[in-house]
Amino acid sequence: YDYDLLVVGSANADLVIDVERRPAAGETVLGGDLSVHPGGKGANQAVAAARLGAGTALLARVGDDSHGRLLLDSLRAAGVDTVGVLVGGAPTGVALITVDPEGDNSIVVSRGANARLTPADVRAAVSLFLASRVVSAQLEIPLETVVEVVRNLSPDGRFVLNPSPPRPLPTEVLAACDPLIVNEHEARVVLGESCVSEDPADWARLLLAKGPRSVVVTLGAEGALVADSSGVLSVPSVKVDAVDTTGAGDAFTAALAWKLGSGAELPEAAAYAAKVGAAAVTKRGAQESYPTAREVDAL
Ligand code: RIB
Ligand code: NA
Repeated sequence: YDYDLLVVGSANADLVIDVERRPAAGETVLGGDLSVHPGGKGANQAVAAARLGAGTALLARVGDDSHGRLLLDSLRAAGVDTVGVLVGGAPTGVALITVDPEGDNSIVVSRGANARLTPADVRAAVSLFLASRVVSAQLEIPLETVVEVVRNLSPDGRFVLNPSPPRPLPTEVLAACDPLIVNEHEARVVLGESCVSEDPADWARLLLAKGPRSVVVTLGAEGALVADSSGVLSVPSVKVDAVDTTGAGDAFTAALAWKLGSGAELPEAAAYAAKVGAAAVTKRGAQESYPTAREVDAL
């Protein structure tokens, strides 16, 4: 394989303001100075994997504008192959992000060019799919594009999905996931009516029954649950002081995908991914906060 990981997904300019608390409807609050960071769940995953040393390519769409150039610069600086980054058709996606004193964020995404990444764009990139050991995706691009992704995997290629922002998923996509990676909120949305339990271990089992070969439920400071046909296992978290959690989940997913592709078993890969996610929350921004393999080992 030419690539350890092909990420198919979004690229956004993150416009970030620190706030003491979020405004209620009709309210104005004053925040800190605006900062602009390269982000988007797809570009974040690609940068996170490349920083760890994975041979990584990204299939995405940005606008022909300054935000698009910010993204391309960040991807190239991390060593991501940008041959699959299409330019034009709409403005680059933007995420309006507020970060509170606990480091927690709220995000509104304008998808822009991400919404124009089409199934035809996937078919046109078939050579990238055939050259990639693992393919990962998220849901800031159209769902029909993700459906086309699972139809274009290489014969023994592995597919990893973080359905964020979440929506119900077609059976064809669920069946391709190995693993499906969800947080609490995403688990509830993907399970829909069948989510009656409050126990994350039950969610993992119910999600598995929907068709994925494996499932990971991330639980923030509580760590994660990994589930496959051999059962449900708990993986501990790494305790750190959170500065900015933005993009930590993307780093977790990328690290997990890369480790699985290099032959690690799910619990081992998830334990490593938890360290990568923990390192990411200790710094501001998404892509700029991602650790190298050496920094992870030092944790
Ligand atoms: O997961 C974090 C990302 O979500 C941010 O970088 C923002 O762009 C949104 O897509
Ligand atoms: Na961060």
